[in-house]
Amino acid sequence: MEIQQVHIARRISQIKYAIRDLQAFAEKVKAKGMDIYELNIGDPGKASAGFHPPKQIKLGLIEAAKHDFTGYAPAQGDPMLRHIIAKRENVSPDRVFVCIGLSEGIDHLAMSLVNEGESILVPSPGYPLYSTVINALFAKAVFYKTDERFYPDLKDIEQKIDPTTQALVAINPNNPTSIIYPPTLLKKILDMAAERNLLVFTDEIYDLLGFKGEKPVNLHTLNPDATIIRGSGFSKNFIYPGMRIGYLVLHGEGTNTMQLPLTKLGNRRLAAGTWEHNLAAWVGLKVYDNEEKGLDLKTDLYEEYNEIKKTMDQSERDRYEKFIKSIVAALTEMMSGKEKYISMHEHLENFKRELAVRQNIVYQDLNGKNGINLVEPQAAFYAFPQIDVPAFKDDMQFALKLLETTGVFVVPGMGFSPILEGKYFRMVTLEKPERLHEANEKILSFIQDNG
Ligand SMILES: Cc1ncc(COP(=O)(O)O)c(C=O)c1O
Repeated sequence: MEIQQVHIARRISQIKYAIRDLQAFAEKVKAKGMDIYELNIGDPGKASAGFHPPKQIKLGLIEAAKHDFTGYAPAQGDPMLRHIIAKRENVSPDRVFVCIGLSEGIDHLAMSLVNEGESILVPSPGYPLYSTVINALFAKAVFYKTDERFYPDLKDIEQKIDPTTQALVAINPNNPTSIIYPPTLLKKILDMAAERNLLVFTDEIYDLLGFKGEKPVNLHTLNPDATIIRGSGFSKNFIYPGMRIGYLVLHGEGTNTMQLPLTKLGNRRLAAGTWEHNLAAWVGLKVYDNEEKGLDLKTDLYEEYNEIKKTMDQSERDRYEKFIKSIVAALTEMMSGKEKYISMHEHLENFKRELAVRQNIVYQDLNGKNGINLVEPQAAFYAFPQIDVPAFKDDMQFALKLLETTGVFVVPGMGFSPILEGKYFRMVTLEKPERLHEANEKILSFIQDNG
């Protein structure tokens, strides 16, 4: 009897994610014995890059596991974590939603905002998850243009706003361009959005990773009353992508209606990731913020607990108290141990310094060579070179051939926007300097051979 294949829903055909979609082809190339330069995924936790999360965060994870924070974490996130994020964002804790990576936050956002046929404005080029989740809901991701520096084109945005538009997404610092938007431009975007009654979703997952020019500004600080949802997380800033902790913060009264959908969507999946990771994230932020304020760790670690303890029963209080006590002891030991204590700030400064070195290698190696044009990156770990390669129909064909012949695995520009004019690719600049040089050499000679 012929086996009847199961029926697949239409939405699946909408799902495209260029960053992973080329993986199967890469596996085939690898199987032939080719050395693959994996410059395709922005994973700062990848072993070959040589970066690590701050020890303080790992310590939080270990202590939380020791104290059996192994049940479902509250669906909106651990209350200590929500309290500390709320303070940093100047909102009340009920406006903070912890999610399983910002990826889940983006999913919840799209599900809350658009019906079939409605639309959200997203940047071109921009992180592909936005269009993927929007299109899978049979809504429309409408791409707005950016200029030659990759700054959002305000005129284009204005022209594309129509009655179906529910929100505008800004990614700052940006993936795939690693560009930081100037505050004057951000202010104009906010003013325009206010005039058109539009929610701005600001994806600031790289906000601590600016290393050149002005520091990235958190959008809500430009107008605390504006209707903004801010997304960030621990994958990039704190070098811990596997932690799967991100968060959404509701700013401005206009976002009050988002409280219910985000609560409902969060409740469905029972827990906001693992409780151990929620608490590790709290330890990370607590130590980071205390360092910034010059506070003594040992006295201040009970602050969030004191704010939430009245909501807990005695057994829960005991568990939190034991956990915090063990954190104080472990941090004290770490600070007085044989190994040099590295503060969270030092750790992140070292990370940023090294990111700048690696970004600079790519910029110096590639820009202006063999028809490559690269806007100088200011943050994070992506480069988005424009290429002049008439021999290739499009940048997908370029990326596939580059991978097959040289082993250099990049993501074609079309994966970040269907309206991009010209050919581009995105490369991740996290690999060690020598390896990056090698990859750059291969890219240059590949373009030369195919020119
Ligand atoms: C702009 C942007 N937003 C969100 C995410 C998702 O991050 P997370 O690891 O928190 O799911 C990424 C990951 O690469 C990203 O580049």
